[in-house]
Amino acid sequence: MSVKNAMTADFLRSAYGGESMAHMRYLIWGNQAEKDGFPNIARLFKAIAYAEQVHAGNHFKELDTQTGDYTVAAGGVFGEQNIVENLQGAINGELHEVEQMYPVYLEAARFQGEKGAERSFHFALEAEKIHARLFQDAQNAAKEGKDISIKSVNICPICGHTILDEVPDKCPVCGAKGELYKSF
Ligand code: FE2
Ligand code: FE2
Ligand code: FE2
Repeated sequence: MSVKNAMTADFLRSAYGGESMAHMRYLIWGNQAEKDGFPNIARLFKAIAYAEQVHAGNHFKELDTQTGDYTVAAGGVFGEQNIVENLQGAINGELHEVEQMYPVYLEAARFQGEKGAERSFHFALEAEKIHARLFQDAQNAAKEGKDISIKSVNICPICGHTILDEVPDKCPVCGAKGELYKSF
């Protein structure tokens, strides 16, 4: 599906920018966590970086008829600090998306009858709720100088749904088959 209304197209571009930056930021912070001796928190960052790539890709696809150059404004979080501070940056970014950005973008897409954008924003919103919780749990451990204990982080490649240690038969958000999940 392709977006038709200018307002929803702007929101898709902004969300694409935000997801793209989150993707890169989590890779950077994942490398940092690795160096600091938190391999599982590093894995969480890298897996969630992939989920953000899925979101960026979904938004990009909805913009397939909007060819040309655009200046894209999106909130970017900066700073490479210690692991607790980096996790706080991640929590703040995810909560901004959960509490402010995606609910508003989702309502705009609904109001404008943009089914594809609505789906793309819905997928992202549901994953970001999980990301905020997972980063909070990781920060609680890191504050005590501990890594998290996890077996795997599993990501749905269609919607970015994120789940620790197990793969469901079917994605609870988009219905994709469990065998499609990418495991980290
Ligand atoms: Fe995302
Ligand atoms: Fe996220
Ligand atoms: Fe999914």
